[in-house]
Amino acid sequence: MPSRDEMQSYYAARAPYYDDVYDKPERREDIAFLKSHLPAVFAGRKVLEIACGTGYWTQHIAPAAAAMTATDAVAQPLDLARGRPGVGAVRFALADAYDLPESLGTFDAAFAGLWLSHVPVERRNEFLSSLHRHLAPGAKVVLIDNSEVQLKDFPIAERDAHGNTWQMRRLKDGTMHRVLKNFPSRAELEAMIAGFGVRPAYQDLQNFWLLEYEAA
Ligand SMILES: C[S@@+](CC[C@H](N)C(=O)[O-])C[C@H]1O[C@@H](n2cnc3c(N)ncnc32)[C@H](O)[C@@H]1O
Repeated sequence: MPSRDEMQSYYAARAPYYDDVYDKPERREDIAFLKSHLPAVFAGRKVLEIACGTGYWTQHIAPAAAAMTATDAVAQPLDLARGRPGVGAVRFALADAYDLPESLGTFDAAFAGLWLSHVPVERRNEFLSSLHRHLAPGAKVVLIDNSEVQLKDFPIAERDAHGNTWQMRRLKDGTMHRVLKNFPSRAELEAMIAGFGVRPAYQDLQNFWLLEYEAA
């Protein structure tokens, strides 16, 4: 079982009301697009989801996928994901994105929503190496994450020499948390996947960015 870091404690505590982020009116149009786009991309594929959280995207992708395994390193959100409608056939697994166990198997598609922004710059390669050990050549990979619009809610509080940025976030119980949250540019994302994939396709939505590519 993965050991828990500061961010994992934050997501464990936030799990019961995490889905509030999907109720923000300004995100409505992007979410409607993603709810139809993602199932179309993953239709008929065997999908590995990384950091699935409460399963918000799992519930929309799973009905279109041939099979789906959804993973997260934290038990609390994963338990909520298991209770979603439409996920009866999904295999859920507690797994660290940096050290995905061999037992997960091999996939021809992968998805990670709002995860890459939490990966330290110096660990991106480690994460992608872990993910790609489970992907067949040609596997379709989709990453989505917050654009800088999110900074209006949580401005950057700290920055380090690697280029990582942190936000200070208060939970409903009043506790403050220092959360790593990065906002990679399109060029940074394309350079990041260069050794792992081909045919990158990047899109800026109003509140999110979307990167799709094929495993090399
Ligand atoms: C911003 S949430 C994203 C949840 C979901 N993918 C979504 O888009 O709604 C980030 C998730 O990363 C998970 N997480 C944190 N560290 C992790 C790790 N090392 N491996 C896998 N998941 C991790 C947290 O538990 C949390 O559920």
